[in-house]
Amino acid sequence: MRLANRTLELNMFRQMLRQEVEQKILLIEAQSGYGKTDLLDYFAYHCSSQYSTVQLDLKDATLGTTYLISRLQRKLGQARFPRLEKSVCEFLSASIEVTNTEIVGQENILQFVLNDTDQTQRNLRFNRLQVSFFEDLAGFSQRTVLLLDTFNAASKELRDWIEGQFLSEISQLEQFVVVVAGQITPEPNIEWRRLHYHYELHEIEEEAWHQYIRDSKRPLTRQQVEAIIAYCRVPAEVVKAFQAVERRQQQ
Ligand SMILES: Nc1ncnc2c1ncn2[C@@H]1O[C@H](COP(=O)(O)OP(=O)(O)O)[C@@H](O)[C@H]1O
Ligand SMILES: [Mg+2]
Repeated sequence: MRLANRTLELNMFRQMLRQEVEQKILLIEAQSGYGKTDLLDYFAYHCSSQYSTVQLDLKDATLGTTYLISRLQRKLGQARFPRLEKSVCEFLSASIEVTNTEIVGQENILQFVLNDTDQTQRNLRFNRLQVSFFEDLAGFSQRTVLLLDTFNAASKELRDWIEGQFLSEISQLEQFVVVVAGQITPEPNIEWRRLHYHYELHEIEEEAWHQYIRDSKRPLTRQQVEAIIAYCRVPAEVVKAFQAVERRQQQ
C-alpha cells in the first residue's frame, strides 16, 4: 500500500518498535479523511512477523471496557491469558446456579460475570479481572503492537479507562507499543506523559502529492494534480478527485 508523505509518522513508529526511543505510546490525531485508518494499516503492514499485531476499531466497542478486554484476549489468543481465565472461572463458580446453557451464547463472558452480581461486587470483580488481564499482558514474551482506531467513537467509560488504567499499565510493559488514533486522542496523565508522542496529521504538501502520483504510476499530469489540490485539501477528497479524473481520461 502507498501513502503520500507519512514518512515522519512511520519513522517514529519504527523507532518505537526497535526500542530506540523510550516512548511506546503513539497518539495520532486528525479530522476525518486525513488518513488515520490508512496509517494504522500502514503500520500493521510494516510490523514484521516477530511482532504480534492487533488492530481494533473502538467504534465497535459499544459494550465498553469489558468488550475491549474480551476482544484483545480473543485476538491475541485465549491461551495467553491464564490469569484472566482463572479469575473468570472463579467468579463463574461463585455465581449461584449458573448453568452452562446460560453461559453459552454469551458473547462477552466478562460482562456476564459482572452483571451477575450487585454494584459493590461488580466493582471488586472488575478490579480483579483487570489486574489479572494486566498480569497476563506483563507475562507476554512476544513483542506486541496494539493499533486502536477511532478513539473518539468509544464510550466515555472506555475512553476514561484507556486514558487511565490501560495506558498507565501498558506504558510500563517493555513488550508493548500502542498506537491510538482518532479525531480526539487520550489526554496524557502523569504516569505515561513522558512515554508518548502525539502527532496531528495535516494536509499533504503539493510536492508529496506529485511524488505519490509518480510512485503509484497514475496517469495524471503535474497540472492536473495542481488543479485538484487547489480545490481539495482533505487527503481523502484529493485521492477521490485523482480517481475521478483518471476514470474520465480512460473513458
Ligand atoms: N497520506 C495519504 N496518502 C494517500 N491517500 C490518503 C492519505 N491519507 C488519506 N488518504 C486517502 O483518504 C482515504 C480516507 O482515509 P482514512 O484512513 O479512512 O481517514 P480517517 O481514518 O482519518 O478518516 C484513504 O482511503 C485514502 O484514499
Ligand atoms: Mg478512520
